[in-house]
Amino acid sequence: MGLKLIYCRIFQFIFNYGAMLLAWRKAIPVEGAGSIGQIPGLLREEGVRKPLVVTDPGLVKAGIAGRVTDILVKAGITFVQYAEVESNPSVNTVNAIQKLYLAEGCDGLIAVGGGSAIDAAKVAGARVRFPKRTVNQLGGLLRVWKRLPPLIAVPTTAGTGSETTIAALITDTETHHKYAIMDLHLIPRYAVLDPELTVGLPPALSAATGMDALTHAVEAYLCWTYNTRESIDFALKAVTAIFANLERVYKNGGDLEARQAMLLASYKAGFAFTRAGVGNIHAIAHTLGGIYNAPHGLTNAVILPVVLEEYGPRVHRKLARLAEASGIGTPGSGDAEKARAFIAAIYAMNGRMGIPRAFNFIKDEDIPRMIQWADRESNPLYPVPVIFSRDQFRSVIEKVRIKK
Ligand SMILES: [Fe+2]
Repeated sequence: MGLKLIYCRIFQFIFNYGAMLLAWRKAIPVEGAGSIGQIPGLLREEGVRKPLVVTDPGLVKAGIAGRVTDILVKAGITFVQYAEVESNPSVNTVNAIQKLYLAEGCDGLIAVGGGSAIDAAKVAGARVRFPKRTVNQLGGLLRVWKRLPPLIAVPTTAGTGSETTIAALITDTETHHKYAIMDLHLIPRYAVLDPELTVGLPPALSAATGMDALTHAVEAYLCWTYNTRESIDFALKAVTAIFANLERVYKNGGDLEARQAMLLASYKAGFAFTRAGVGNIHAIAHTLGGIYNAPHGLTNAVILPVVLEEYGPRVHRKLARLAEASGIGTPGSGDAEKARAFIAAIYAMNGRMGIPRAFNFIKDEDIPRMIQWADRESNPLYPVPVIFSRDQFRSVIEKVRIKK
């Protein structure tokens, strides 16, 4: 463990200096109820004459994609629509979007959806600029070095943060391997945060996606080195906003004020983690997504408080600051008590939103590869507050599983 710790910390120290040299930016936020009405103006500003709208069949059926395209029709903007994005967008989907874009002579992209539609549009934009490279060849870190066609991201959930992150997750059609493409050029030009598009989200989905955003913010806040003053500030504000608003949207989907606050929190958490990284919670959650197709937000929600407990005293000071900012715990008590109150507040909020404490589908025989994958994802890249040993990964996994 000693050598592993030294190696990871040196890697992260050097990586941090590399990251400082990059030209970080954010998607320009366009906020408020009815803000999708500003899309025609944004297109004009970017000189886009024929956008390709990328969305999924569910949003077409629910009439949400139609609300965006109606605005384009009214503004007299010619557009093309691709509405076949699946929940884990595949290489084939990305290639189909790129093909349609080129065949129709499009000059910009509008992604309407959760993480999937936005991710697919990001990578399709990269394929437009790199027609000779496959999606697999664009995978990994910093392999998309050209400016992409203008992309307007219109999130319909408040959680993934994809509307302002450098990352897109794509699944290889043949091998089913899910991997990330990460490059600053993948950050959309605009993030249109219109709460009216999220009012129809069912409570369970609002809860899970909101907990994903909370996990982004907490993991970014706990990062020991890649953070900037702005990412720390955004993470802190996202955490407080989520504690104040997530249960409001869970109880009343039509609460526009809380929906708006959640969209903004998700955007801020997205910026924070794209700069500062995620950590062991996401690394373990991804293994459950990969092996059992478990929903990302839900797995994060369950794993989040367990990992925070496993971190122990090393994170008490920071969790105490998050607790104070969110009005959790007893004023005047010590950091350890406040940190424990913060973790207890997560368990309690999960419970009130019907999120379980553990899963019944984790099989004994899968645990070794879950540990291996989580360790490989976290280390050395993620600047986690405590570098987990394999025993610590195992301990967390055992706590989030119900043995049959
Ligand atoms: Fe996430």
